[in-house]
This record gives sequence, structure tokens and C-alpha cells, in this order.
Amino acid sequence: MDAELTVGRLDEFADGELVTVDVGGHALIVARLGDVVHVAVNRCPHLGLSLTRGPGGLRYSDGVVQCPWHNSRFDMCTGENLDWVSGFAGRRVPRWSRQLVALGRKRRDLKMLPARIADGRVVVVVGSTGQPPE
Ligand code: FES
Repeated sequence: MDAELTVGRLDEFADGELVTVDVGGHALIVARLGDVVHVAVNRCPHLGLSLTRGPGGLRYSDGVVQCPWHNSRFDMCTGENLDWVSGFAGRRVPRWSRQLVALGRKRRDLKMLPARIADGRVVVVVGSTGQPPE
């Protein structure tokens, strides 16, 4: 059976911003777009590194987050990968070298968590073990 965790109050998340939160031992990112909130695991599916801390710094605009390590980009509404491993720290590398940077890892989407707003709070669903669903 799934469990729910409160991530924070809705008014703690500014519209159009990406916020990092740690809840119940989970490193998450929260993107608010108007009255809709999207929550993802703060772990890039390429190498499992933070999407908000790294040499390229936090890069988020128009609902898209870019990994600060190797520039993979993800839609925060769906988790869809929009660009896979295109460089390092915000700088692009030639297309021919991208497979080297990818280290053999195949393109993957960002892991999203079901989120809803209840009584002014942002709530996410995690697995019965408290782990984000695989
Ligand atoms: S760790 Fe995110 S693109 Fe490599």
C-alpha cells in the first residue's frame, strides 16, 4: 500500500520556480506552475547525481530542468527527457563525443512522483516502504 508524504505548504513554492526539498529521507524537486505542482526525485537518471547542485548550477526555466553535470534536460510536468547528455556543466560538446560522455547509459526519463494539493499542502505518494515508486 502506498503512503503519502507532505512536501510543504503550497505557498512555500513560488510560481515558476524549482525548489529542492528533503522529505522523509527523500531528495525531491518541486516545480509549481500556477495551481499545479509537479514533484520529481532529485536524481538525474544518467548517473544518479543531483539535478540542482553541480558544476553547471541550477538551470530551470519554462518547466524544464537541465542537469548541471552533463546537460540532460527534462520536462518537469511529465519527466520526459528532452535532450540526453549534450555536454558538461552547461557547455555543449560535439555530437560525435556524446556517447563517450553518456558512458553507455541509455536515455531515460526523470522519475516523477504523483502529487496533489490538499488543504493548502503539497502531498506526494511514495511506496509502502517509503521509497519513491520505481
Ligand atoms: S548526471 Fe545528469 S546528465 Fe549526467
